[in-house]
Amino acid sequence: MKKNKSSKNWIIKQHRDQYFKRSKILGYRSRSAFKLIELDKKFKFFKKKINLLDIGSSPGGWSQVAQEKIQSTGKIISVDIKDMEAIDNVHFINADFSKKETIQKISSLFEGKIDVIISDMAANTTGNKNLDCIRTNQLSLDVIKFSLKNLKNKGVLIVKLFMGEDFVEVKNFAKKKFKKVDFFKPKSSRDNSKETYIHCSTINSL
Ligand SMILES: C[S@@+](CC[C@H](N)C(=O)[O-])C[C@H]1O[C@@H](n2cnc3c(N)ncnc32)[C@H](O)[C@@H]1O
Repeated sequence: MKKNKSSKNWIIKQHRDQYFKRSKILGYRSRSAFKLIELDKKFKFFKKKINLLDIGSSPGGWSQVAQEKIQSTGKIISVDIKDMEAIDNVHFINADFSKKETIQKISSLFEGKIDVIISDMAANTTGNKNLDCIRTNQLSLDVIKFSLKNLKNKGVLIVKLFMGEDFVEVKNFAKKKFKKVDFFKPKSSRDNSKETYIHCSTINSL
């Protein structure tokens, strides 16, 4: 039993180290960058000249990947409650996404609807795994609601979700509001993590 646990821990550590090393070599600020690269390989949402919003962006791995793909042809806005070191062509808003003023600021900076919204936002951990899942999934639900008003009809939304007790509620809400809803867990996401990503496209007209 003990041996199983330690070999499982070894596999988790190897997995973490592999992506950590690669992120250092390629200059990414987080291992999460590889999750976005895998998500784009699967769903192909990065195009030149798009408007993109990155929610929960610090330390900036996803924003780095977005800026590599879009460069200065489009507009990238990133938002996080924590500070983020500057990235060329990325406008960073240091604010709480749950606040009305933040939403207003984002809307005024885009001056129109958004092509792609990506959110890796996760609530601060409390030590209680069930509670952490619920808190992050409620943030994800807020992102989905925000996207219904701010995403172009044929736009793309990618949001982190945890396979917790309210997962089905969020999934069903997304399925009601979008024509196409898929789930994808990147290989760079740890097997023992409950996180997955929801990909939504084409808002239902009703
Ligand atoms: C997993 S990290 C994101 C990592 C990022 N995608 C990257 O590649 O570097 C989750 C982020 O969500 C942010 N966050 C949590 N609650 C937030 C809120 N209410 N408003 C804005 N950001 C929030 C955290 O501060 C944290 O930086």
